[in-house]
Amino acid sequence: MNTSPIGIFDSGIGGLSILKEINRILPNENTIYLADNKNCPYGSKSISRIIKLSLKNTSVLAEMNCKIIVIACNTATTNAIQEIRNLFPIPVIGIEPAIKPALLNTKTNKIGILATEMTLTSSLFNQTSNKFSDNIEIIEQIGFGLVNLIEKGDINTKKTKQLLKSYLDPMLDSNIDQLVLGCTHYHFLVPIIRQIIPKEITIQDPNKVIAKQIKKILNRENLENPLKNSYKNKVYVNGNTEIIKNIINSKGDVDFLDF
Ligand code: DGL
Repeated sequence: MNTSPIGIFDSGIGGLSILKEINRILPNENTIYLADNKNCPYGSKSISRIIKLSLKNTSVLAEMNCKIIVIACNTATTNAIQEIRNLFPIPVIGIEPAIKPALLNTKTNKIGILATEMTLTSSLFNQTSNKFSDNIEIIEQIGFGLVNLIEKGDINTKKTKQLLKSYLDPMLDSNIDQLVLGCTHYHFLVPIIRQIIPKEITIQDPNKVIAKQIKKILNRENLENPLKNSYKNKVYVNGNTEIIKNIINSKGDVDFLDF
């Protein structure tokens, strides 16, 4: 089991930002990454559909003998983590919007969060934000259309920048000093977000924290790979493989798989 891979899934390229951190801090660990881009975006689907897709992805990874499951998607975590944990007897780690560090660090008492519709309406997200947000205003914005643009590779285009600006300007007018990126896809937009927001605003992007948490759990469960080989990343995509091939380039094998 210790030499088995870490299993990761997302609706597309978003979780690659977490994969990069896993490779950095866990260089002995092999990974299998599922990009369910045939069904992207998850963020506007029903809860039952998100649960069904998340269970399907987890089954594929469990059959591939993965020792731990990483849900590299805020939408799948906030809507389906409990169902996954109920059905699979292996450790499951999810990613949720980094609301807590934003609330702890704000000086203006105003924070902004950009996430998908189904993350912002989920009960898990609302429980977390209500629990910590006394006296602090949280400005929520659904990133309509952003995931589709990112999946097409439209990351540094005028169209994407304009759309982002329309979502971020009202937050700037409200004087936020923390911006929470509540969707793993948005990590790829950080360079253009930086062109729109002043440098005094902190961007909360929890990829590093998640990778550290995975390391902690592997250690606690005695699941670390003792072989000091350099890692291998295997990526399976069930839709268009081109964009993901360009991003992953020499860091792993990308193949089509109809899952
Ligand atoms: N990357 C995902 C997230 O973190 C899902 C985006 C989507 O498919 O809508 O929410």
